[in-house]
Amino acid sequence: MSLEIFNKYESEVRGYIRSFPVIFEKAKMAEIWDETGKRYVDFFAGAGALNYGHNNPEINTALIDYLQNDGIGHALDMGTVAKKSFIEAFVYNILQPRNLDYKLQFVGPTGTNAIETALKIARKVKGRKQVMSFTNGFHGMSMGSLSITGNSYYHDESYGVPGYTTQIPFHKYLGDKVDTVAYLRKILEDASSGTELPAAIVLETIQAEGGINVAGEQWLRDLRQICDDFDILMVTDEIQVGNGRSGDFFSFERAGIVPDIVTLSKSIGAGQPMAMVLLKPELDQWSPGEHSGTFRGNNLAFVSSAVALNNYWSDDSFSKAVKEKSALVQQRLEKIALRFPNYIKEIRGHGMIWGAEFKQPEMTSKICAQAFEDGLVIETAGASDEVIKFLGPLVITPELINEGFDILEGAIEKICQA
Ligand SMILES: Cc1ncc(COP(=O)(O)O)c(C=O)c1O
Repeated sequence: MSLEIFNKYESEVRGYIRSFPVIFEKAKMAEIWDETGKRYVDFFAGAGALNYGHNNPEINTALIDYLQNDGIGHALDMGTVAKKSFIEAFVYNILQPRNLDYKLQFVGPTGTNAIETALKIARKVKGRKQVMSFTNGFHGMSMGSLSITGNSYYHDESYGVPGYTTQIPFHKYLGDKVDTVAYLRKILEDASSGTELPAAIVLETIQAEGGINVAGEQWLRDLRQICDDFDILMVTDEIQVGNGRSGDFFSFERAGIVPDIVTLSKSIGAGQPMAMVLLKPELDQWSPGEHSGTFRGNNLAFVSSAVALNNYWSDDSFSKAVKEKSALVQQRLEKIALRFPNYIKEIRGHGMIWGAEFKQPEMTSKICAQAFEDGLVIETAGASDEVIKFLGPLVITPELINEGFDILEGAIEKICQA
C-alpha cells in the first residue's frame, strides 16, 4: 500500500493520514476496511460527523432514492421538498418535545461557518464587539473561530486574527477548589477589572478537542445566570458534542439550561456536510440575504438528516441506548485505568465521549499507533495530546465496543511494557 501520491501532491497540512497511514476503501456503521481488506473498529467516527455510522443502510437508501428521482441537489436557500422535510423532522422530533423555540439559520456546511455566524449575529444584536470563550475551547479554523480557540498550535501572530476576544478559565481549569464562574462574575461586576462587557460567551459544555473536559451542571447553570444578569448571550457550540453524543440530543440539556444561540454541524447532516445555527426568535435580526453562502443548506444532507431524526429521535429509545453504551465505555476505561495506574492519570467523559489522560503525554500517540496496527481507529485530544479519546459512532454495538477496548488495552500493555 503506497502513500506516495498523497506524499507527493497533497499539502503538508495533511493530518489524519499521518496517524492512520493506509488507504481506506469501505466502511459500514462502526467498521472500516483499507484497500488490502484489513478491518478496523472505529472509535473516531469522523471526529463526530458519523454518529449514525458509516453508510447507515436506511440513510443510504433514502439518498440513493433521492438521487435516482432527480431530487434537487443544489438550491442555495430556495425552498425544496428535502428542506421542508428536514425542517419538519427537526421541529417535531427535536425542538417541540424539548419546548425549545428557535429559528433555524442554514449556513455553509462546516462547523466553523456556524461559529462565524453566531459571532456575527451576537455582536450585531448586542452592538458590542467583545466575545468571551474558554481556555482549551476549540471552535474551528477560520479567523473568527480561531480567535476564540485556545490551542496555540493553530495560531500564528502573522494571521492577524481579529481580537476583541478574551479567554476565561473553564470549569476546573484552576483545580477543584477554584470557582471559575465566581471569578467571571467578579470581573464583570468590578468596573476596574479592565474587562469589557461581551456580546456573548461561547462554550462547549463538554470540551472535546481540548481534552474531554466536562463542565459541571451547576457550573453551567451559574454561567447561564451570569449571562442573564449581565445581558450577555450564551452560545453553546454543539458541533461535536451535540446530535446525541452526550446521550441527550443537545449537550446542554443535562443542566436544564437554554442557550440563546446554538451551533450545530458534523452529525446534524448524518454523514453529509451541513451546519446550522439556532437563534432565539428575538435574535433573528438579519435582513434578507445579509449573511449568505453558496452552499448554505445542502439538500443531500437534508435528506440524510431527516431520516436520522425520524428514525432515532422520535422517542427516547435511542437516547436510552446511548446512555447504556456510555456505562459500558466507562466501565472498560476504569478497568484499564486500574491496570495501569503508573500511566493513566484520570478517566473522564460523558455519554459517548470519553478520555483517558496519560501522565506521560508522549505515550498516547505511540499507543494509538499500536492500536491502529492492531485494528482500531482512535485518536488523541488535549493541549499536549495527553488524552486518548473514545468517540465511537453512537450506533456501535456493545460487541464492537468490547472488541475495540480489548485492542486498546493490548496496545497500552505493549507500549507500557516495552
Ligand atoms: C466543538 C467544535 N466546534 C467547531 C469545530 C469546527 O468544525 P469544522 O471543522 O467543521 O469547521 C469543531 C471541529 O472539530 C469542533 O469540535
